[in-house]
Amino acid sequence: MNYESIYREKLCTIESLVEGIQSGETFATSVIPMTPQSFFSNLHLIREDVKGVEVFTILNPSPYDFFSKKEFEGRILNNCWFYGPGDRAAADKGLHTVTYVPNNAHQAIADLVSSRRIDYFVGSASAMDEHGFLTLSCSAFIERDLIKAARKVVLEVNPNAPRTFGDSPIHISEVDHIIEVDHKLPEETLISPTKTEERIGEFIADLIEDGSTIQMGIGGVPYAVSKLLYDKKDLGVHTEMLTEAMMELFEAGVITNSKKTLYQGRFVCAFVFGTQKLYDFVNNNPSVFVMSGSFTNDPYVLGKNYRMTSINAALMVDLTGQVCSEAIGTRHYSGTGGQLDTHRGAVQSALNGLDGKGIIALRSTAKNGEVSKIVPFLPLGSPVTVPRQDIDYIVTEFGVAHLRGKTAYERAKAMISIAHPDHRSTLESEARKIGLLF
Ligand code: COA
Repeated sequence: MNYESIYREKLCTIESLVEGIQSGETFATSVIPMTPQSFFSNLHLIREDVKGVEVFTILNPSPYDFFSKKEFEGRILNNCWFYGPGDRAAADKGLHTVTYVPNNAHQAIADLVSSRRIDYFVGSASAMDEHGFLTLSCSAFIERDLIKAARKVVLEVNPNAPRTFGDSPIHISEVDHIIEVDHKLPEETLISPTKTEERIGEFIADLIEDGSTIQMGIGGVPYAVSKLLYDKKDLGVHTEMLTEAMMELFEAGVITNSKKTLYQGRFVCAFVFGTQKLYDFVNNNPSVFVMSGSFTNDPYVLGKNYRMTSINAALMVDLTGQVCSEAIGTRHYSGTGGQLDTHRGAVQSALNGLDGKGIIALRSTAKNGEVSKIVPFLPLGSPVTVPRQDIDYIVTEFGVAHLRGKTAYERAKAMISIAHPDHRSTLESEARKIGLLF
């Protein structure tokens, strides 16, 4: 089979793709760092008569015109599974161009497909090999399932995208249109942990036992934790996001993936986000499996892992252990992503007798200490990311509250003990007012 000529027949330009968009069509797109940048940078050039276009996006790296300009209200709607800074800025300006899609990552695509038809999947891929295979490169998270669901598949093929294994290979026969691009993948800005984050990291590092399989969420605290794991042995990785810090722990011999129950000797992740060093590490690396989030994030899959330990960050937690990680009151900030999935998976590992731990970490205060992130109850309008009936460990720089199985009274006591000392007496009197403490 001459795959080269099949590939060439599928080549098209971004201009012709955008020119062909019809009113009411629905597009679903790939995750950072595989964001289809050419598509997003040109989408605002749709024909003037086109309206009612729906685009499903996740963690946009830039404030693209199609949702950052008022003139696109009613013409293009950015339905966002997880807000990035650009999505947040558009929502903060009150533009009617962006809305949030409540979801648990592992079921996001099944839920989407149950609610509508997907006309196009637009994603990114690495170059094709001699067997006609491209790869989805740094993310099979939602991409693999969207390819099955969409009527047409469009890929931006980038020679700088690493080739990966797992659910990532995609055959040219599965693709309808190809747009060739050539840009570096977006890189994560790594910021050194603060003293507070390091203190939280120390408490969490004490909870992580040798042989654990870890998942780390987004944010400063998970990054700080990984810097403190250098004395551990035989850690494994089964995570939504594969990070730079995990690669460094592998190079230091701390992560061996040898004690995992599933995919021993392999990293399992749904997407990879870091710097070029990480992208070079995963390139053609058979020890990294980039897999569909409907598998990686399924709590029942995660729960099979020995000592499955999830570490996720939160914006605030109430005195009974209700976690909000995605909004500040009614202001939507990020998303649930895989937080509830991975937390539940870790607790499932404990329920299966495999010693799992679900850890939620947060600084005790925000806004230079003025605001306590531990609150008597979540502010009006806050969504609950992890319900209190699922909660296991909460960690701040003042210690660890192990809430699983505890009463509301015991939880309030434990939560106040890890709040910032400046806020403890207020929390205590509030807890008495609402009947949590007596
Ligand atoms: N009240 C008011 N403002 C608050 C606040 C509170 N309780 N908590 C945080 N903030 C503000 C901070 O001051 C900061 O504001 P700034 O941007 O003006 O500096 C902002 O909210 C972000 O807070 P911060 O704690 O710095 O966030 P982070 O970068 O460490 O990320 C989460 C933490 C919770 C937002 C992030 O981990 C997340 O989105 N999690 C949900 C998804 C997830 O965990 N997925 C896991 C699988 S990958």
